[in-house]
Amino acid sequence: MEQLAHLYHEHISELNRRVADITSRENLSGLVIHSGQPHRQFLDDMDYPFKVNPHFKAWLPVIDNPNSWLVVNGHDKPTLIFYRPVDFWHKVADEPTDFWAEYVDIKYLTKADKVAEFLPTDIDDWAYIGEHLDVADVLGFNRRNPDSVLSYLNYHRADKTAYELACMRKSNSIAVTGHQAAKTAFYNGASEFEILQVYLSAISQGENQVPYSSIVALNENAAILHYTALEQTPPPQRLSFLIDAGANFHGYASDITRSYAFEKNIFDDLITAMDSMQLQIIAMMKPGVSYVDLHVATHHKLAQILIDFDIATGDATGLVEQGITSAFFPHGLGHILGLQVHDMGGFLADEKGTHIASPEAHPFLRCTRTLAENQVLTIEPGVYIIDSLLAELKQDNRQQQVNWNTVDTLRPFGGIRIEDNVIVHSDRTENMTRNFGLNR
Ligand code: GLY
Ligand code: MN
Ligand code: MN
Repeated sequence: MEQLAHLYHEHISELNRRVADITSRENLSGLVIHSGQPHRQFLDDMDYPFKVNPHFKAWLPVIDNPNSWLVVNGHDKPTLIFYRPVDFWHKVADEPTDFWAEYVDIKYLTKADKVAEFLPTDIDDWAYIGEHLDVADVLGFNRRNPDSVLSYLNYHRADKTAYELACMRKSNSIAVTGHQAAKTAFYNGASEFEILQVYLSAISQGENQVPYSSIVALNENAAILHYTALEQTPPPQRLSFLIDAGANFHGYASDITRSYAFEKNIFDDLITAMDSMQLQIIAMMKPGVSYVDLHVATHHKLAQILIDFDIATGDATGLVEQGITSAFFPHGLGHILGLQVHDMGGFLADEKGTHIASPEAHPFLRCTRTLAENQVLTIEPGVYIIDSLLAELKQDNRQQQVNWNTVDTLRPFGGIRIEDNVIVHSDRTENMTRNFGLNR
């Protein structure tokens, strides 16, 4: 923790530097960053789980306090307007005493609608950064989430500070503990629901604390890319297990996937091949490399795996160009990771917001950026038997290049995804996930 506190000082200096830069360019006095407000469920007196504005948690590891605000101008100590109502129904946030508290001027807000008393009087010169445009309007902000400011902040968010990298290592180490426990539960016969409970309990985080809905899929459910249904009873025959689950540390996400076969068989061999291919792609990461090129390289390597396992026939390039690999691997290679699982800024060419579109043949790619030092990305190739996509191949002569018997053999296993979280350094990559001992 002492180390983190030390790094935090530099982190907040860097955020101040960024704010000073963009506000002077945009002729703004500063930014007023809103943590957010609770969202009420329709016809109910209960709220949805609170999700904090990522631009707020970039400054402080405060992820659970709505109606709080940061006033930052890049030069003065940031002001934190911290919500502490008189409320005997809900837990009221404690007065902050953590390592970060000395770096902000804290003012306590007891009534959410009284925030104007704490905001700068020349509000016209400040930009509102947050979700609640109606609130910003009432408060008199004319500049709300200006594109120029958001593009700048989102672009630079990919360049993680040392503090952020430390948080993300910790977030990986927590998730790895959960993955190891989940793997044991799978081999011991647990249901999907039970495996998720084992995972959450091993990481000591609730379903609303983890950064995304965990995917825990047995057998053919592993082919459903965003499967979150969770069967309560174990399947009669246990074949395969895919778990895509992360953890949260100080607001930073990990996002890890592993695939397992229950027995030694062709599916197990296919996992081995995918695992080694994933590591080859990670070995290609370095500053200056385009993430799109890594994605396309993955398709070529996958094509060779399809040939080697007699899933498809032909030459590797042809399988990619005809879209055959895309039917087996329809999603992107991965994304930038950070305060959000799919961190903002994945398509930005520069801080002005120039967009780099995904190639037409790869519409689901979530990152088209050029790699640079201190970026954190996931690398998550997959191979699945998804009948709706394979049906498209059956519509034309591509069907002759697929070995449907092998497809039938693999269908009950669902699919494979292997996902690690990687830091790009100037001279090497750092695979946080494997470094904490989560291997094949
Ligand atoms: N778990 C979401 C993703 O892998 O992108
Ligand atoms: Mn994932
Ligand atoms: Mn991911």
